[in-house]
Amino acid sequence: MTIKKILMYPDPRLLKQSVKIDKIDTKIKAIAEDLVDTMYSADGVGLAAPQIGINKRIFVMDCNDGQEQKEYVIVINPEVTSSSEELNTHKEGCLSIPEITEEVVRPEKVNVSYQDLSGNLKTKQLDGLWATCFQHELDHLNGKLFIDYLRPIKKALIKNKIKKLNKKR
Ligand code: NI
Repeated sequence: MTIKKILMYPDPRLLKQSVKIDKIDTKIKAIAEDLVDTMYSADGVGLAAPQIGINKRIFVMDCNDGQEQKEYVIVINPEVTSSSEELNTHKEGCLSIPEITEEVVRPEKVNVSYQDLSGNLKTKQLDGLWATCFQHELDHLNGKLFIDYLRPIKKALIKNKIKKLNKKR
């Protein structure tokens, strides 16, 4: 169990396609533990492996608001199998893009499938913050970030702001 350094945009590792996990071995289990520890220590609701420099298809999330009991989900080889036509606008942020939040429109409900840490196939219907979070984290595995949904002018402005913030760090 280690708290890892979270990579900051525009680190090129955040923009890469991550590879499918064929075998859930002790290395993958260690990555899952590191993701959970790092997510909680950064006060996040989700964290994907590329954000700690590992381009494999795994992420963790815990969208339970303010509960004492920690109830995280480990998600391996995720897929969105279908999405609702209804959309949802949610103000999103990302641990790899600190201090920036922007409204992003995504399907309100998604049916998803993934493997858990024992390799069992799980299927779920998600809505609310869980649906938003799942889609946001899955995007990370495809090298996509929430700012990619913004209109070009807006994205350029945000990129400039990030550059300035990065200089200050
Ligand atoms: Ni993110």
